Amino acid sequence: MKSALSLTLFALGAHASCPRSVLKALSAAYVEAQTVGNHSFIATLGRSSPNFLYIENNAVLGNLSMSSLAVPIKPDAHRSIHDVEQCASVTEIIAATQEHPYVLHTRILWQATPDNLSVTGINLVESVVTDEGDWLFNATGTLNLNAPEKWDPIPVAAQDTRAKIQSLGDWYFDRFGDVNRGDVPWHAEPCYRLEGGLPARGTKQGEDCIHVMPASIKVPYRRYVVDEEMGAADIFMGFPGLDRTQGQAPMPDSHLFRVEGGKVRYCHTVSACVTAGCGIGEIDWPDRK
Ligand SMILES: *[C@@H]1O[C@H](CO)[C@@H](O)[C@H](O)[C@H]1NC(C)=O
Ligand SMILES: *[C@@H]1O[C@H](CO)[C@@H](O)[C@H](O)[C@H]1NC(C)=O
Ligand SMILES: *[C@@H]1O[C@H](CO)[C@@H](O)[C@H](O)[C@H]1NC(C)=O
Ligand SMILES: *[C@@H]1O[C@H](CO)[C@@H](O)[C@H](O)[C@H]1NC(C)=O
Repeated sequence: MKSALSLTLFALGAHASCPRSVLKALSAAYVEAQTVGNHSFIATLGRSSPNFLYIENNAVLGNLSMSSLAVPIKPDAHRSIHDVEQCASVTEIIAATQEHPYVLHTRILWQATPDNLSVTGINLVESVVTDEGDWLFNATGTLNLNAPEKWDPIPVAAQDTRAKIQSLGDWYFDRFGDVNRGDVPWHAEPCYRLEGGLPARGTKQGEDCIHVMPASIKVPYRRYVVDEEMGAADIFMGFPGLDRTQGQAPMPDSHLFRVEGGKVRYCHTVSACVTAGCGIGEIDWPDRK
C-alpha cells in the first residue's frame, strides 16, 4: 500500500516511475502502429486518460484519423529513449525510402497505475513531423549520417546522472542566447550536429569539437525526456520563427542529444517550419554565410 504522499505526488505527475521493460514494449508498439498508419493504438490508450492531448507540430488535433498517426510511415531506422522517472519515451523515426519521406520525433507521456505501475493509458503525445521544405530536411542525408552512429546502452558504471545529461542539452540552448555561457563540451568524433539531413560541422581542437553558434537567440518552452542508459536527453522546445518582431510564434522543434562521459557525442534535430522559416535568414549563423 502506497502512502498518501506518494499517491499525491503521482497525481501531480511529479514522479510516475515506470519499468524500462514496459516502456520499451510500448515504444516498440507505437513504432509498429506508425509503420502501418494505425492510429487506433494511440487513440485507444488515449481514451483511458481524461486529459489526453495529441499535439502535432504545435497543433492540438482531436481526431487522430486526421493525424500523421494514420499515415503509414515505414522506418528505415528508428530509436527510442525511455525516461523511467517520468514514464515517458521519445522515438525518432527516419523514413527515407518511401515515396513521401519523413523524419519525426515523438514524445509520449504514458499513464501508469500507482499500485503496480502497469501502463494503462497515454496522457500526451507530442510529435514534430518533418518532411520536404522543413529546416534542412533530407531524410536520405539523415539516414546516411545516422547509420554509423553508435547508441549502445552505456554500462551502469559509466552512466552520467540525469541532471548531467539534461544539463548538456540546456547548455546547448543557453549558448544560443549567451556567448558567455562558453562552448558546449563536445567529443572530437564525429564533430557534427545532424541538423535536418545535413552535418553542421564543428572544428576539432584536440579531444574537443567546437561549434560556432549564434548568441542572440532565446530558446523557450523546453520539455525534457532523459534516459540515463542511453545517455540521451531529448528537448522539445520552441525555435524562434522568421519574424519574431511581429510576434511570430516559435516553431516546433526537437533536439536529441547523446552524452558520453559528460560530453555531447551526437545531436539530431527536427525542426518543422510550419508557417515561418525556422529562422532561416534571420539567425546570425557565423558559419553559414
Ligand atoms: C490497430 O491497433 C489496434 C489497437 O492496438 C489493434 O487492436 C488493431 O488490431 C490494429 N489494426 C491493424 C490493422 O493493425
Ligand atoms: C475523424 O475524421 C474521419 C476522416 O475524415 C471521419 O471519417 C470521422 O467521422 C471523424 N471523426 C470524428 C469524431 O469527427
Ligand atoms: C494494477 O492496478 C490496477 C489498479 O490501480 C488494477 O486495476 C490492475 O488489475 C492491476 N494489475 C495487475 C497486473 O495487478
Ligand atoms: C540529400 O542527401 C543525400 C545524401 O547525402 C544527397 O546525395 C542528396 O543530394 C541530398 N539531396 C538534396 C536535395 O540536397
